[in-house]
Amino acid sequence: MSYPEILTAIAKEVRAEQGKGQVADYIPALARVPGDKFGIALATLDGQQFQLGDADEQFSIQSISKVFALALAYPKEGEQLWERVGMEPSGNPFNSLVQLEYEQGIPRNPFINAGALVITDLLVKHYPRPKAHLLDFIRELSGSYDVYYDHEVARSEREHGFTNAALVNFMKSHHNIKAPVDQVLDIYFHQCAVAMSCRELAQAFLLLANHGILPETGKRILSKSQAKRLNAIMLTCGFYDEAGEFAFCVGLPGKSGVGGGIVAVVPNKLAIAVWSPELNEHGNSQAGIKALELFTSYTGQSIF
Ligand code: DON
Repeated sequence: MSYPEILTAIAKEVRAEQGKGQVADYIPALARVPGDKFGIALATLDGQQFQLGDADEQFSIQSISKVFALALAYPKEGEQLWERVGMEPSGNPFNSLVQLEYEQGIPRNPFINAGALVITDLLVKHYPRPKAHLLDFIRELSGSYDVYYDHEVARSEREHGFTNAALVNFMKSHHNIKAPVDQVLDIYFHQCAVAMSCRELAQAFLLLANHGILPETGKRILSKSQAKRLNAIMLTCGFYDEAGEFAFCVGLPGKSGVGGGIVAVVPNKLAIAVWSPELNEHGNSQAGIKALELFTSYTGQSIF
């Protein structure tokens, strides 16, 4: 089957998953998104793009942004980054507080909220205008200047961000946050509120399929080793307490967000992004996971 045929078959089959999950309702700005949206886009290293459904509609990428923040902080901070955040799956929900107390304010990995807040703190350390720099970076990776901060989502996030405030304050008390708490939270809420389409996301993640080099320009963003490590962390930690099941069913490094987006990487080949806002009990897109499982089944492409 060709890629367009595969995407068409996936879109048809995932219809059965729609209506089973729940659109994120922890902030009003996300709760308003229609649950029946579905988009899928695929970008290959040799410059081909395929897409279907609502693949050009921009949505809130939420935790997918944690990959971009890490890709920006890691080359600047180097290996000492891992002294402030771990590299182990948490087996806990993304916003869990419990583990952080046992582990003295060092988050398990950069993709749970606590770990992402430490990475945001590193952006403040290394960039004088971290918010602007992060947006420029995502625009460069995706090749799209349409990527933007949805300020309404960011505001809604701040108004309801009590758990994130607790996490960052707790880590501050353990000296694992250096910048002012309010500054870290403001940047974090904005990064979660980045709006992008499946097409833009697939293009942006090609970097990770290409060992850290942007395929269109040949520019190196991450070293080969850093790109490998980012993929490894996506595989083991990209889906929180569902990371094992995602590896089992899909077999690709990937990252989800509570906006209903998921991006996955086939090393040396392609990146694929899917969006369906209804989430399962782990906060990952119900139909999105099914779509990616079908993709690896149809194509036989997985890292295993
Ligand atoms: O920090 C939060 O709670 C959200 N802005 C992001 C959470 C998220 O996307 C978790 N991923 N599935």
